[in-house]
Amino acid sequence: MPKWLKDAVFYEIYPQSFYDTNGDGIGDFNGIIEKLDYIKSLGCNALWINPCFDSPFHDAGYDVRDYKKVAPRYGTNSDLYRLFGEAHRKGIHVLLDLVPGHTSEEHPWFLESQKAEKNEYSNRYIWTNAAFQPAKGFLYIGGETERDGVYVLNFFKCQPALNYGFLNPEEDWQLPMDHPDCIATREAMKDVMRFWLDHGCDGFRVDMAASLVKNDDEKKSGTSAVWKNVREMLDAEYPEAAMISEWNEPELAINQGGFHMDFYLNWSGNGYSTLLRDYEMGEDRSFFKKDGSGDIRRFLDEYLPRYEATRENGYYCLITCNHDTKRPKYNLDDSELKIAYAFLFTMPGVPFLYYGDEIGMRYLELKTKEGGYGRTGSRTPMQWTNEKNAGFSTCPADALYLPVDTTEGAPSVAAQEADENSLLSTVKDLLRLRHEEEDLQADGDFEVVYAESGMLPFVYRRGSLLLALNPSTERVSAPVAAADAEKKVFYAIGNGEVKGQEILLAPQSFVVLK
Ligand code: GLC
Ligand code: CA
Repeated sequence: MPKWLKDAVFYEIYPQSFYDTNGDGIGDFNGIIEKLDYIKSLGCNALWINPCFDSPFHDAGYDVRDYKKVAPRYGTNSDLYRLFGEAHRKGIHVLLDLVPGHTSEEHPWFLESQKAEKNEYSNRYIWTNAAFQPAKGFLYIGGETERDGVYVLNFFKCQPALNYGFLNPEEDWQLPMDHPDCIATREAMKDVMRFWLDHGCDGFRVDMAASLVKNDDEKKSGTSAVWKNVREMLDAEYPEAAMISEWNEPELAINQGGFHMDFYLNWSGNGYSTLLRDYEMGEDRSFFKKDGSGDIRRFLDEYLPRYEATRENGYYCLITCNHDTKRPKYNLDDSELKIAYAFLFTMPGVPFLYYGDEIGMRYLELKTKEGGYGRTGSRTPMQWTNEKNAGFSTCPADALYLPVDTTEGAPSVAAQEADENSLLSTVKDLLRLRHEEEDLQADGDFEVVYAESGMLPFVYRRGSLLLALNPSTERVSAPVAAADAEKKVFYAIGNGEVKGQEILLAPQSFVVLK
């Protein structure tokens, strides 16, 4: 387990939209380098950068055309190597995004694979034996290739699935996992990883990590075996490299697959979604809404067993948002976000802050861009100042990668840096607290003290610290043990105190007691 993860706080950067230094309307590596001090000032000491590799961009770069070459729109490979170096000098680790399940349909491997003559890459993707033989049970494409067969997709039409084999092959075109050509796919992906790790990258966020082996069983034993094998390579050759999976099944991803971390993703109706985004059924009952109609048990009942089952082996990680998810500002105002972030940044595991959430950037209703569809509105340019294009780029407004939020009340870094009560200032305070108090970090103990269905506050313990939060506009209280009665507040948003055998919290408050 890389030791640096214990006190890591990640900042997710969608490179298109972070900072443009050459005026072409799109973010670049030099822009990230220029803003490293800003990232550091937040209290973030690690980055995850969305795919920045050569791509036709039919899925915003998740359709990789060359795993070892960056997309020219962001700069050159040397610029990225320089970014690794500059980040390291400031104590910041950098994860790239590994897309192992599929490539772009323009990847040279695929161009070879679709040829009629058999070659080294014929089995790099999953093909049936004839153009009129369907790949039953899969998304597939036929009729576009020289080769007489159809090929299996992993996501969009532009993303043919790489072939890691089938757990239990059922048809003659399905290769077993131990077929040399399936092993070759896995080894090719390790080669990509070594390439970036050797150039200074610190690990990977892994896209659709559960998708590799087809016809896998419920326990994903095929896909987990591939990842275990990758972990063995990392342990032997790059023991400080970190891996986080887009999987949201920590018992599988961490305990079986050997990932160091797994994301708790926003899946409709799951525990995490009840915290910030419980509005899909109409009425919004998110726990962090100030009307207090939420229920922390809906989160805890799912989270706790997963946390307990995996805490010895890795970290189940909470996020403010990501590039696939509606920004939390969509339904929560800054006063609600402060309490929500207080929670997210004081829980176990490694927290992830999505760029712009620290100032409460809004979700915009936009036309789709590069396969974004409903996700596009969470991918708009970072709002740095109140100058032209919010300080993101000097290009003409109509040349921007995506429109900047310039509507009334749009937040900016400059405005919030000047305001000690801003959301940005609160984020900095919370992250400073997390770095100062070891008990608040990734593997500090966590215990629920008071969490009754439909009731407030929520009280929890991290090591020797007692924490309590009240997202609602009512005053609330809860009993505390005699041993906690002497504890004093040393960090607060709003107000709270222990009086006798009770903890009392003012509206929209969060307290940490020692
Ligand atoms: C993951 C990415 C998403 C992408 C998809 C296909 O879910 O987060 O943005 O479209 O995989 O690669
Ligand atoms: Ca640029």
